[in-house]
Amino acid sequence: MTITIVGHGYVGLVSACVFADFGNTVYVVGHTPEKLERLKNGDPIIYEPGLKEVLEKNNKAGRLIFTTDYVESVSQSEIVFITVGTPPKENGEADLSVVLKVAEEIAKNLGDTFTVVSCKSTVPVGTNKKIEEIINKCKKGSAQFAVASCPEFLREGSALHDTFHADRVVIGSESQKAIDLLLKVHTPITGKKIVTDLASAELIKYTSNSVLAMKISFANLISFYCEKTGANVELVLDAVGLDQRIGRIFMDPGVGYGGSCFPKDVKALISTGKLFGIDTQLLEAVDTINEDARINLLNKIIAQVKGKKIAIWGLSFKPNTDDIRFAPSVDIIRALLEKGYELSVYDQEGMNNIKKIFGDKLHYVTNAYDALQEVDALVILTDWNEFKNVDLNKVKKLMKQPLIFDGRNIYDLQTMKELGFNYISTGRATISL
Ligand code: UDX
Repeated sequence: MTITIVGHGYVGLVSACVFADFGNTVYVVGHTPEKLERLKNGDPIIYEPGLKEVLEKNNKAGRLIFTTDYVESVSQSEIVFITVGTPPKENGEADLSVVLKVAEEIAKNLGDTFTVVSCKSTVPVGTNKKIEEIINKCKKGSAQFAVASCPEFLREGSALHDTFHADRVVIGSESQKAIDLLLKVHTPITGKKIVTDLASAELIKYTSNSVLAMKISFANLISFYCEKTGANVELVLDAVGLDQRIGRIFMDPGVGYGGSCFPKDVKALISTGKLFGIDTQLLEAVDTINEDARINLLNKIIAQVKGKKIAIWGLSFKPNTDDIRFAPSVDIIRALLEKGYELSVYDQEGMNNIKKIFGDKLHYVTNAYDALQEVDALVILTDWNEFKNVDLNKVKKLMKQPLIFDGRNIYDLQTMKELGFNYISTGRATISL
């Protein structure tokens, strides 16, 4: 099959590589020639485990074509996927301007044969109908098309695995021809194929992300109870999670969720709810608790660090990615800088991105231990494996005082006690010397 993918962010590039790997010819349309040139040369631009290899392999096989040109790509494709960003506006609503602009470009360049225009970007209910209206308005007279919603559920850091081995493929459309083509292109993926109407497919993505965000906020809420009552959040959640109706996964408390999806999608679902007159208190609480989780850690740091020098380990919003969008680190660093702290920061992959925000306001180091020289405290914000496996005796020797704030609960309480740390984690007893 010949496919076009408009956009080459996490969803676009990973989908392009996977569909090319299945043997399809995939045009990837972008608007920045410099980025497209890098992609042509096998540089994925973003850090995502395994992506470089699959990109290079399919570039070499000639199955990936990076271009700014809608004419050649769209006119030859049976399926055109829209995978551009839908960032949050000030009021939380999803900004659809790029999606709708792209729909117009696609419309103008549709070929003579039937084309499916399928939106993979996360878009509020009703957006695919808007895309359909735009295409009807802007297309050449003879062009035949149908719209479909095909949301993407990949996680950053395991994006390739999640796409190759997706649990489910959701296809929403009113056109059987579109459904058949999308089923065909997804055939190599063994996960369950769910065919729905447009609105249900659109809502499935927001529901998935909001339920996951709710589980995390619930875990954080319970961690606040644990901190006040002396209970241990891990024991509580381990026991609760054994109930198969609940499950333990995605219930790790800490400094809250970040990234380009949960924060924006919860806010966008609130915004859609308001539009339809639905009571959105539950979703608003999910969002507020997520902010409270950051504030909770921040208050502990401010109350307990006596000096002004702090080391921060972990900048990316989660491990195995260089993405710092809506990362807890950004909020916490900003707040600590405002309070006059001097910060040494380290992350395996997120350094360049954090430098773009904070410039020379931070001290950047290239090794986790180098951040610790003479600091009054260490704050851990991302659960990279590297931090789980450090030599804690060495950590203790380098610091001015052995004080760790752990926003991800990565160390065992008993071990920290035996090693002689003041150790403040989330929803668990404080270890103090
Ligand atoms: C998420 C969804 O998982 C994915 O299905 C969707 O397509 C896009 O949004 P992603 O944002 O890549 O993926 O990351 P995810 O692994 O879901 O983690 C999101 C955030 O939640 C991270 O900041 C992570 O640290 C945090 N998290 C996750 C917790 O705080 N606790 C948990 O138990 C799990």
